[in-house]
Amino acid sequence: MSTPHATATTAGKPRILTGDTPTSTGLHLGHYVGSLENRLQLQQQYDCFFLIANVHAFTTLAEKPADIRANTMGIVKDWLAVGLDPDASTFVLQSEIPAIAELTFFFAMLLPFNKVMRNPTLKTEIDTKGLGDSYPFGFPMYAVGQCADILAFRPELVPVGEDQEAHIEMCRDVAGKFNQLYCGVNNRVPLDEHAKPGTAGASGLFPVPKAKIGRVARLAGLDGVNKMSKSLGNAIFLYDDDKAVQKKINKITVLPDEATKLVPQSHVLLQYCDAFLPAARAKEIRAMYAAGGEVMHGHIKAELGAAINTLLTPMRARRADMEARPDKGDGLVLDILRRGAARANTIAEETLYRAKQAMQIDIAPRRIGM
Ligand code: TRP
Repeated sequence: MSTPHATATTAGKPRILTGDTPTSTGLHLGHYVGSLENRLQLQQQYDCFFLIANVHAFTTLAEKPADIRANTMGIVKDWLAVGLDPDASTFVLQSEIPAIAELTFFFAMLLPFNKVMRNPTLKTEIDTKGLGDSYPFGFPMYAVGQCADILAFRPELVPVGEDQEAHIEMCRDVAGKFNQLYCGVNNRVPLDEHAKPGTAGASGLFPVPKAKIGRVARLAGLDGVNKMSKSLGNAIFLYDDDKAVQKKINKITVLPDEATKLVPQSHVLLQYCDAFLPAARAKEIRAMYAAGGEVMHGHIKAELGAAINTLLTPMRARRADMEARPDKGDGLVLDILRRGAARANTIAEETLYRAKQAMQIDIAPRRIGM
């Protein structure tokens, strides 16, 4: 076992954990700029754990296990296509990490029920998914489970979209409370120092992790109004081909505002320029629109479409290579998930054991199968 408060791995890199729930397929540019790009940039500097929250998918799809299974395989293929590297990072299949389930139960004791039920991310999901009051007990429970997903790996950072911030806040609460209740951290130690090596009183088991929001917190859809989303039909998918991408971009209407006679700086075309063109070029285009002269929208759309296609080409190629295998890449995915679970369990089991020690329930540790 490593030193009690180490947050770094043997590789000496600080840890990151983040994940996706396999409730649907079809990644789009919103996913890319909101989180995948972040992961790509972080995967070399950090020891990354990327979790597929397949147990959480049962909160809304319990009657469709085959869909969850297919989406799980699909997400791993998407990650590979985007460029996440299973040799540099660890891919974690949630259902194979029993320590997560055990920690979930412990953490559920540290969170007031009413606080979980007021979690704004859960509330929004209940609204947008039309769950009414018929959702299962496990639905709000998943927010507690997410704390365990994260803390099982004792990461420093959790790169997520803006919509997940409330969950990370809850995770910080739980980590802090656990450290204070069971690890002797007193309440004058700032949260961010609960497990900081070399800091007096920082005897916490859990570093209190921070959220890291993507470069573009909310990418608008092609309609220019709503967030980009598959179900709203306003998305550019990572596997749209060159022509489809350009066609979608061309369809964006660019009209000047009636009062100012200018194309507003908040226009979705300009948002996309920020997101997908070099910063200096996006600034230049914004200035052109602000000056109100004649701007060739068509040229800008062509430039934007080309930039997006340059970004997507290698992803499509990697995905196509996988699909061309006789087993469509399934064997590769299973191998990655098996290797990932082995490594993930080593760490999560260590966390669980130390949590049990702190909680004084390491009374008669089990020896299964020995
Ligand atoms: N709830 C997240 C989502 O739907 C997925 C998720 C599950 C996650 N466990 C996590 C994200 C832990 C970050 C950390 O997007």
